[in-house]
Amino acid sequence: MCGIVGYLGGRVAQDVLVNGLKRLEYRGYDSAGIATLDDDGKAGLTRAVGKIIALEQKLQSAQQDGHLGIGHTRWATHGGVTERNAHPHHVGNIYLVHNGIIENYRELKAELSKQYKFKSDTDSEVLAALIDSYYNNDRSLKDAVAQALKRVRGTYGIVVFSPLAPKELIVARLGSPLIIGVGKDETMVASDASALLGYTEKAIYLNDGELARCTPQSVDLFNLNLQQLNPQVETIEGDVAEIQKGGYDHFLLKEIMEQATTLRNALSGRIDAKEGSMRLGGLNLSPDELRSLEHLVIVGCGTAYYAGLLASYYLEQLVPDLTIEVVIASEYRYRSFHLPKHSVAVVISQSGETADTLACLREIKKHGVKTLGIVNAVGSTIAREVDGGSYIYAGPEISVASTKAFTAQVATLVIFGGMLAEAHGANKALIAEFAEELDALPAQIDQTLQKHQKDIKKLAEKYAQYQHAMYLGRDTAYPISLEGALKLKEVSYLHAEAYPAGELKHGPIALIDDRFFEVFNLLDNRLFEKSLGALHELRARGGKVIVLTNSQKEVDADDVVRIETPLRHLAPLLLNVLQQLFAYYVAVAKGNDVDQPRNLAKSVTVE
Ligand code: AGP
Repeated sequence: MCGIVGYLGGRVAQDVLVNGLKRLEYRGYDSAGIATLDDDGKAGLTRAVGKIIALEQKLQSAQQDGHLGIGHTRWATHGGVTERNAHPHHVGNIYLVHNGIIENYRELKAELSKQYKFKSDTDSEVLAALIDSYYNNDRSLKDAVAQALKRVRGTYGIVVFSPLAPKELIVARLGSPLIIGVGKDETMVASDASALLGYTEKAIYLNDGELARCTPQSVDLFNLNLQQLNPQVETIEGDVAEIQKGGYDHFLLKEIMEQATTLRNALSGRIDAKEGSMRLGGLNLSPDELRSLEHLVIVGCGTAYYAGLLASYYLEQLVPDLTIEVVIASEYRYRSFHLPKHSVAVVISQSGETADTLACLREIKKHGVKTLGIVNAVGSTIAREVDGGSYIYAGPEISVASTKAFTAQVATLVIFGGMLAEAHGANKALIAEFAEELDALPAQIDQTLQKHQKDIKKLAEKYAQYQHAMYLGRDTAYPISLEGALKLKEVSYLHAEAYPAGELKHGPIALIDDRFFEVFNLLDNRLFEKSLGALHELRARGGKVIVLTNSQKEVDADDVVRIETPLRHLAPLLLNVLQQLFAYYVAVAKGNDVDQPRNLAKSVTVE
């Protein structure tokens, strides 16, 4: 969603800010802006609706050469997509960028409207005014920010500067991430570590309720009562190459095609195919806690939820005495759930910042249950708030549609399942089978992608003109059907939905007409014949069907893509990479903005 960058040091702030904002483009936004302060204390403010390129065009005739500044990409929540609603906001002596939502902004606005004439419809401008109202001769900028934030209900990540305090940025966070990059005689702030890559490797991750006063040489950390805290400087992982397209037309294609590599990173040191064993570090669960675990609740949103759903099929085979619930975070957080003794919650999130997932984690923690994170973004809020867990090491996922993270999430959960199974004294042969399949999976993914990329492209071009798609599958092919439909709708804007194939005649079959096509994920397993039944029902009603299958048997369909694989359990992950390619090529055929689809944001940091 919204992105923040701030800079002060020796470089031209405008260049650093625009470069940083470009790195944050992937998060999704609809307008952008920067404000800088030059060495004579004169501030410049430029904002534009649309892509960063529009901002850059404006800056050509309004070059700002200060060495301090703040920038923002906005994804509209309060107020339409207009220049006056874009950030930074300027009120009195305050320039501010804000991520999050100020829930009591109406009350505050009513109170402040005698003193200020508001120019935008945003909650953020009200916050800028509130800070300005506290900023006077008796108070430093830091004190004014702290005072104002005490009156705010809601969430924020903010960066503030004032021409009256020309050598400092004030940053503060509650529920919206901010990272302070510490360089030599320069300090940078960003809502996402990718904006800091190449500038500095040292960073301070701000925690909720913290505020910092930054100068080029120092970062002083406080709580809102202005008691000084000790900042912890950490090392940021990653390099600039990971956030570039590397010769591909789109990040989405790059991320699909690099899955074998990212998966190898996720598996590295965690499976021993020869020994038939699996191990995840960092869980912070004692052998006794692993052994006595009876109930697992798996939490996520969107693709992360589907990864949990697919993994639950594997976990229930691996650990038969475990009860598993897979829940959607935005629902579960408000339910009156009960978690029995010996429960553990597994929270899945690529970004580690999804507001619903984070809120759900916090709700679960109130029940005194141990929480584990399966997270990609290192140092993210969820990763920091869980009791233990594992990174999936998929590297930065830039395209809004999640692909490589899904595969790595499922693999990491299977490893967790293998470990649990060992602790529960479950079927060793089955654990070994999964370990062997995981070991073979990266090469199988590569082979599948290489072999079928061209066929899938052709299929996508053939079906791109339809209006509706239905994805079907049974057993482990059902969660990947859900994921396939989500991918297609996100990037192609076709209406797509997914059903377990056994549900077809309980309603959805009524939809089948010549505006629809169907993607049938057909696994060669114990439900193969039953799945064929649903396929025949579709064909009998004129359904146009693409079958994705690991079966070599004859099937009746318009198009069949057959993969050859020895994988018995994990074959759905291979069908899924075909679905990812299919969604990608449909989006390309339709001329869509593949990496930043309309209305979507990469990490959904508001409820
Ligand atoms: C996937 O393609 C989506 N864009 C979306 O559903 C995403 O998976 C969901 O918002 C959860 O994000 P997270 O993994 O960062 O928590």
